[in-house]
Amino acid sequence: MTGLRTTVVTGAVLLLSGTLLAFKQAGIVWTDAQKAQILSLSLDSLPPLPDDPSNGYANDPSAVALGAALFADTRLSQNGKVACASCHLPEKQFQDGKAVGQGIGTGTRRTMPIRGTAYSPWFFWDGRADSQWAQALGPLENPVEHGFDRAAFIQVIAAHYKQPYEATFGPLPDLTGIPAHASPKGTPESVAAWARLRSQEQDRINRVFVNGGKAIAAFERTLQPLPTRFDRYANALRSGAPTEALFTAQEAEGLAIFIGKGNCINCHSGSMLTDNHFHNTGVPAKPDAPDGDRLAATSLVQADAFNCLGAYSDAPSEACSELTYMQADGADLIGAFKPPSLRGVTRRAPFMRSGQIKTIEEVIIHYSAAPPSVTGKSELVPLNLSSRERRALTSFLRTLD
Ligand code: HEC
Ligand code: HEC
Repeated sequence: MTGLRTTVVTGAVLLLSGTLLAFKQAGIVWTDAQKAQILSLSLDSLPPLPDDPSNGYANDPSAVALGAALFADTRLSQNGKVACASCHLPEKQFQDGKAVGQGIGTGTRRTMPIRGTAYSPWFFWDGRADSQWAQALGPLENPVEHGFDRAAFIQVIAAHYKQPYEATFGPLPDLTGIPAHASPKGTPESVAAWARLRSQEQDRINRVFVNGGKAIAAFERTLQPLPTRFDRYANALRSGAPTEALFTAQEAEGLAIFIGKGNCINCHSGSMLTDNHFHNTGVPAKPDAPDGDRLAATSLVQADAFNCLGAYSDAPSEACSELTYMQADGADLIGAFKPPSLRGVTRRAPFMRSGQIKTIEEVIIHYSAAPPSVTGKSELVPLNLSSRERRALTSFLRTLD
């Protein structure tokens, strides 16, 4: 079989030419190897949702319902106006289309889409959280996002979610003596109030806070990627059904570049079109945005009290191999970030971790030129794509919408 071309040829046009890019209207011949790569990107190849042993409530329907409510609740913020859903809008792929997040204040990073993130071992652009529940606790106490604190969080739970909380996690602790605001992070007053608490009180607050995160994570696990025209094309390819009506010749050419000359599949692999690991692609930081990279994040995740090995994780330590065997050091982590999923990407301008690149055409120009990185070393090699190839790649990316 090796060397044989799978023939998916339109009408009467039979392509005998050896070069793949010689096809005209919709006639395209994929090699078996190319076909396997294409199928590996489709939703049909999506593995079952991985377990999250650190979250004992990950698949609990009552935790999902509670998490969905918390995700949309603006009471969990300093000014009563910010919810997770304020930046992660369901109708916008659970992101916001802004260059940087806008909550209580203005952040320095772009809001990430959430569908399918349950497949990732690391969260945030730099991967400084190792579970969805640990991730969720970050924005709640981030001064420019929710600007909230964990003591205030548990008061909201007690006042508005007592019944669903207790049905899922058991009785809420006694709140007498718990101040209105207290957290090891945040304003000087809430840090001081936290320091005055006994360690058992801190632990009680942390438990409820963590359970809130676990409920939100259970909800996020239900946000699965949606099928696209590309998936229909891949399914037709798999079953041998006609593909002409599904993809134009230009889109097919773009797909060939994506899996071939463009090397895109090296990092944007699997059904989510991301390998969920960290790469330097030479996108310079915004001058006004401090740029913590993967190298900086590895010590943050190791020190995080809410990581897989910590007291609030439900996982036995042997289930924390991602964290235990994490690459914590190395020049390749300098200036490295997580590739986002490319599903729906062309509708999410501006692009990159701080919205540095405004249009999808400019993203492709960046990959074609592959400028050297300001920090560390870019993994990209210049592709010198022609304008025709760049247009083809862009039109392929649109099939992922
Ligand atoms: C002010 C806007 C804003 C709010 C509010 C907000 N986020 Fe985010 N979210 C962001 C930004 C910006 C990032 C990327 C931050 C970074 O990497 O430093 C992000 C990243 C994430 C990620 C990581 C996705 C990935 O692929 O790694 C998840 C999951 C997420 N947020 C969920 C939540 C949840 C749950 C809440 C509520 C508890 C929330 N966010 C509140 C803006 C926001
Ligand atoms: C070496 C790994 C690597 C390769 C190869 C690669 N990418 Fe990326 N891609 C990334 C990373 C990492 C980011 C995020 C970088 C950042 O924000 O600083 C990214 C971001 C993107 C984005 C923006 C996503 C968003 O939501 O902001 C697009 C679009 C994209 N890549 C398309 C491509 C295409 C098309 C190719 C092939 C020409 C390609 N990538 C090759 C790693 C890679």
